[in-house]
Amino acid sequence: MSQSNGHGNGAVTDAKGGRGPARLVIPADGFLAPPPISQPNIFPLEWPVHNEELAALYEKAKQQAWNPSDLPWDQLRPEDFTPEERLGIMYWYAVLAVFDGSGPAVFARAMIHTYEIHAEDPIRKCFFAVARDEVNHEECCQRAIQRLMPGGPLHFGAATDLERAALNNIEWLYHNGGRYWRGYSASLDKYPLSVLFTSFLLGEVAASTLFYGMAQRTNRAVFKEVFKKVGQDESRHLATCLKMLERDWPGLAQEHKDLITRQLRAGFVFLSMILWEPPNLFWELPPYFIDNHRLLIDCARQGGLGVLSFDEQADNWRYAIAKVKKVVEDWGIKFPAIPELDLDGVDVGNITAADIIPVF
Ligand SMILES: [Fe+2]
Ligand SMILES: [Fe+2]
Repeated sequence: MSQSNGHGNGAVTDAKGGRGPARLVIPADGFLAPPPISQPNIFPLEWPVHNEELAALYEKAKQQAWNPSDLPWDQLRPEDFTPEERLGIMYWYAVLAVFDGSGPAVFARAMIHTYEIHAEDPIRKCFFAVARDEVNHEECCQRAIQRLMPGGPLHFGAATDLERAALNNIEWLYHNGGRYWRGYSASLDKYPLSVLFTSFLLGEVAASTLFYGMAQRTNRAVFKEVFKKVGQDESRHLATCLKMLERDWPGLAQEHKDLITRQLRAGFVFLSMILWEPPNLFWELPPYFIDNHRLLIDCARQGGLGVLSFDEQADNWRYAIAKVKKVVEDWGIKFPAIPELDLDGVDVGNITAADIIPVF
């Protein structure tokens, strides 16, 4: 007895239900094409490589893989710090976590998007590598906070005025961190990837500069290791963004170039919270926030975390921005004015939650 799958070319079975010898079937009218796959679809089933340099960056990501568990966390002894220093360091990592805590989901979402649009294989893999790295960066925030203030950043049992002030600031930051996700998710379908890359670019330049500076400055071995490792990842993310943009910018429409100008301003507004101080745009914060923030960051500095001074942070930002400005202007994209740092450029008006593409 034989069975057919309806096309007349099914597997042959014998009387006992066993399989007969395999045979090749070439239909007389030719092979039947399957129905078209509706798009977007996350299943490319091929691995095209157009940019070897991006493929090399993915290889580098695998070679530079590291494990946060291997860092000397046991050297981070709560008793080596005053209660204020402990709180200050926990607070700084909580601020960082507002950025790094969103990193895994932001890049995972971007990675899915690269599959949906069937981007070339190295781009898909690079986004995967960035998402992988961001999970590690988030884990460092988690470990530092858990070592110094178990239950932090939200449930450490704030009891003193300073602790309550820290908790309240963190809650406000968390509120703001939760405001951009929908806008970000929706933006993926609206704009070409290169617009996103430029927003990533500012974040990656800023992050690599920040962590490099702090690795130099901190006097605690475990923090030095964290900053060095994270800084290494961030400079690879930066190289990845630059490579992707080099490929894409020649085809950019003017409207997308204008959008990039605006995105760069949004990046400055958003990232200043961790790199410097938040400008009076986008951030919804109570009037006492900044005073308490400064005091807590001072406590972290006292504890040897390696946080740069206000002026050093501003210089750092200027340096990072100058680097990005040079790159995008070479591509015929105008740079926004950054009056907070006395930098001239295009006035892009108000920045809202819808403009924020969170990256770090
Ligand atoms: Fe990054
Ligand atoms: Fe990161």
